Amino acid sequence: MMSSVDGKVAIITGGARGIGAATARKLLGAGARVIITDVLAEQGEETAETMQAEGGDAVFMPHDVTKEDDWRRVVEAARDKFGGLDILVNNAGIVLIKKIEDTTLEELQKIFDVNLAGVFLGVKFAAPIMREASANSTPGGSIINLSSVAGIDGVPRYGAYCMTKGGVRIFTKAAAMELARDNIRVNSIHPGLIQTDMGGKVMSAAGRGRLNDNEVRVAMIKGHPIGRLGVPDDIANGVLYLASDASAFITGTELVIDGGVTAG
Ligand SMILES: NC(=O)c1ccc[n+]([C@@H]2O[C@H](COP(=O)([O-])OP(=O)(O)OC[C@H]3O[C@@H](n4cnc5c(N)ncnc54)[C@H](O)[C@@H]3O)[C@@H](O)[C@H]2O)c1
Repeated sequence: MMSSVDGKVAIITGGARGIGAATARKLLGAGARVIITDVLAEQGEETAETMQAEGGDAVFMPHDVTKEDDWRRVVEAARDKFGGLDILVNNAGIVLIKKIEDTTLEELQKIFDVNLAGVFLGVKFAAPIMREASANSTPGGSIINLSSVAGIDGVPRYGAYCMTKGGVRIFTKAAAMELARDNIRVNSIHPGLIQTDMGGKVMSAAGRGRLNDNEVRVAMIKGHPIGRLGVPDDIANGVLYLASDASAFITGTELVIDGGVTAG
């Protein structure tokens, strides 16, 4: 059966590794054409080459989501080389694990730039070109923003990160309201702990030098009612759903994929 993302054009930021790379592979598997972007040029090229070798229609473009010129270049490439833009996954993000009192203004500004301005600029630059593609297709464009369970629940030592992910959550709803009449849907995804480079950093910080890796893992698994940690594919499945026609009536929602962490 032909999937509803078949032939659609997607941009995935921060797609060199982790959740972004798994999402690229998932959308490619469903027939989408994917522009993978990242600041990690070498790793991004390798990721795209691997996916091309697997038969996927993928390209890599170096891209810093905090830079307006980079966004212009990437969305113009989608329009000029791929013929439009149907799906944007604002996935690029960084984490900061520090108490509020120890966080410098410089660190705060940096995480605001990547996690908040990066997502804002993505919507700003993608919307005009997505609108063109959306005008001729039903149900139209889909923007998916990566927030976190830390955008729903407060977490000690993650004050700045929580602030950015909470911001992504409510910005998603504002953008959904603004773009609904343009036939563009905007939704957020809220992962629990996912085993990626970032997930590894979270695990190491949880041990604080007092617990070994295995003890941290056991403690973390205990915190996830479903009895395991997440894998990038768990999130990629959610992105595919929100990108596809199966979610045509869903906009401004928050899809929590956390093994039950926030359910209690
Ligand atoms: N891993 C988790 O447990 C977890 C949980 C909740 C939410 N998330 C969110 O999911 C998203 C992906 O996380 P991940 O776990 O795959 O992390 P990751 O660190 O493995 O991957 C993030 C990618 O974003 C890229 N990136 C960072 N700054 C960038 C910039 N300025 N411009 C372009 N690319 C940039 C990195 O180079 C990297 O390839 C992030 O937004 C993260 O906050 C992750």
